Amino acid sequence: MATNPDNPCLRLAILISGSGSNLQALIDAIESNSLPNVEIALVVSSRPDAYGLQRALRHKLPAIYLPWKQLAGGEIKLATLLHLFQADLIVLAGWMHILSASFLDQFPQRVINLHPALLPDDGTGETFVTSDGTSIPVFRGLHAVQQALDAAVKVTGSTVHYVTPAVDAGPVICREEVAIEQGDNEESLHQRLKTVEHRLIVEAVRAIVKSAWHT
Ligand code: GRF
Repeated sequence: MATNPDNPCLRLAILISGSGSNLQALIDAIESNSLPNVEIALVVSSRPDAYGLQRALRHKLPAIYLPWKQLAGGEIKLATLLHLFQADLIVLAGWMHILSASFLDQFPQRVINLHPALLPDDGTGETFVTSDGTSIPVFRGLHAVQQALDAAVKVTGSTVHYVTPAVDAGPVICREEVAIEQGDNEESLHQRLKTVEHRLIVEAVRAIVKSAWHT
């Protein structure tokens, strides 16, 4: 992990495409000192109307809209920004775009993602065994919350994992189960998952800072 001895802070770049409630969780943890030695170097949004951009600006954080769909060479521009702002760790917090192997090669073990479903430890595998011993399918890709409801499983959850070229399949940093309640719909369940994610994303970054400081 690249860290400047004059500035022992781990510099995060947070990539968003929407509401940015997980970005807010990181901002709050940093501002309240419950996530020491961490600063937000840059927020990148792939949408101009992402509410997360407003959250970033309200906290006077550098923030930029990178128009992903219309942009040829988006990854080249994104990589340039990440180098320019000296990002140590890239957090995909609701970023809705797949990043290529050649992009990820430039940031080995430095890109993490938050996924609203339970992923197995090494990321690969098609089943997950929950704490009560039940084997459930692994829900990857888009609409993972709805996939869990459609599969009528009793438990789902959220996972923070390292990003690899295979979608939602990298090594797990931390995860937590969330029970599905009777009458849950995609919105109500996703809202409960997000409450858990707000803790998980902070916990994951804290664990990475600790390991960066002790290796
Ligand atoms: C989270 O539920 C995350 O798991 C998924 O996108 C959502 C982002 O939410 N990848 P927010 O923009 O942080 O509120």
